[in-house]
Amino acid sequence: MSEHPDHTPPATEHETYGFVVVSNRLPVDHTVDENGDVKWEHSPGGLVTALEPVMRANDGAWVGWAGKPDLEFEPFENDGINVVPVPLSEEEVQRYYEGFSNDTLWPLYHDVISAPTYHRVWWDSYVLVNRRFAQRAAEVAEQDGVVWVQDYQMQLVPQFLRELRPDLTIGFFNHIPFPPLGIFSQLPWREKILEGLLGADVIGFQRADDASNFSRSVRHLLGYATTRPYIDVPVDDESAPLSRRGRKVRRVVAKHFPISIDSAGFEALARKPEIQARAREIREGLGNPKTVILGVDRLDYTKGIRHRMKAFGELLSDGRLSVEDATLVQVASPSRERVEAYMALRDEIELTVGRINGDYATMSHTAISYHHHGYPREEMVALYLAADIMLVTALRDGMNLVAKEYIAVRFDSDGVLILSEFAGAADELRSALLVNPHDIGGLKNTIMRAIEMPRRDRVTRMRALRRRVLDNDVAKWSASFLAALSDVRPGHRIAAPPKKTVEEALAESSGSEPADDGAGTPETAA
Ligand code: G6P
Repeated sequence: MSEHPDHTPPATEHETYGFVVVSNRLPVDHTVDENGDVKWEHSPGGLVTALEPVMRANDGAWVGWAGKPDLEFEPFENDGINVVPVPLSEEEVQRYYEGFSNDTLWPLYHDVISAPTYHRVWWDSYVLVNRRFAQRAAEVAEQDGVVWVQDYQMQLVPQFLRELRPDLTIGFFNHIPFPPLGIFSQLPWREKILEGLLGADVIGFQRADDASNFSRSVRHLLGYATTRPYIDVPVDDESAPLSRRGRKVRRVVAKHFPISIDSAGFEALARKPEIQARAREIREGLGNPKTVILGVDRLDYTKGIRHRMKAFGELLSDGRLSVEDATLVQVASPSRERVEAYMALRDEIELTVGRINGDYATMSHTAISYHHHGYPREEMVALYLAADIMLVTALRDGMNLVAKEYIAVRFDSDGVLILSEFAGAADELRSALLVNPHDIGGLKNTIMRAIEMPRRDRVTRMRALRRRVLDNDVAKWSASFLAALSDVRPGHRIAAPPKKTVEEALAESSGSEPADDGAGTPETAA
């Protein structure tokens, strides 16, 4: 991958920035409303939610795709963020995005829950598109600037960017798990992916296990020396005497930086009387069941939605629960709808919902209240407040920000979080009720335990969880990543968003309109 050794200096015809974020998706998606007017709506997923505050704290640029094929735009400013669009053709959307990113890497990195597909033309497209993103970032980054590359769709960008612009400090953060060597080794292009990532100065992961999976792969597949958290990457040094050639190394840091949310911002929303009124309205709309159980996810096979429905359906059929006792509200926001595995999953889930409701719903109570939509943040906060139990049953998940959002919202210190051991969040949120979602019997018992838990125990657990989430918020996450970048290449100081108190977040949100336009896009179902 060194076909382009020339350095591209920051081009003068482009506006340049000291801080550039590169991700597949921009924070806004291009949409056209019923009148034919262009609207920019919030993009789905946890990545965008986490990075927006960092971008607002810096006059930086965000390089990414606007979510539709064949659209070319000039850079523009949206809601305080400088957006630099990169176009993708329809064929690239199929091969690079739906194909290699979401039908090869996504299942491979999530424990092969669905079988990954390997196609050489998909890989070729991935290389081409990663090169295009790197070139765009190289054009808009200032001399000696900082570029922060995001997620599995962009793993070759660090190396391409280093070849184009060795003056830059480059960070990479992987929002999803990094698989164990035994699984990663399936990938026909495994060495190229590792070399691509090693173009960065700091490579961040969600969990300590992800960072050690990566280092182990580097050791075994590339033979480079690793001493946690460092990886020594050999570099060509033509100026060195022959006897010393091959000894020079570039030191890369690979470690975990667990991502988080704007905790104070979520709590501030939950304290608004109108949102609390909406939470009451939601419960009434459900027929005031004794217990409201909530699931919020992108409709993805990694989330274990089928497993939780199976457990809930069995509790109804065993007679341990009735629909007057409990309703399961499942928000499943639409995702990657042209990828086969996602279409099959949707059919399966909707069949299950139909069956369970057909068997158990009464005229006044449904069993599962199912919503194939995304909702604006205010509505999500009202739902979290309305839910006695939050059910996160991911089979594998990088972090799971929904779990953290539920905790941040519960300023009443009530509510029970049931959390899968296979979500990155389980490393931190030890006071949740941890479950193995494959163990349906265990999951059923845990749901019953949550339903029957005395308030005193709920409060003790929720208080401990809230201490973690309010302290380890997204400001702390970005500050620690950016500090690690500055340690590697001193002199680069990029502002992390200031840590907000709930009072400050409240003042901010009552002084201005909420950031969301209620457009109905899922913000947080990471
Ligand atoms: C996860 C990934 C993100 C991705 C998001 C939504 O959070 O880590 O990189 O943007 O899902 O998926 P999509 O394919 O719609 O961008």
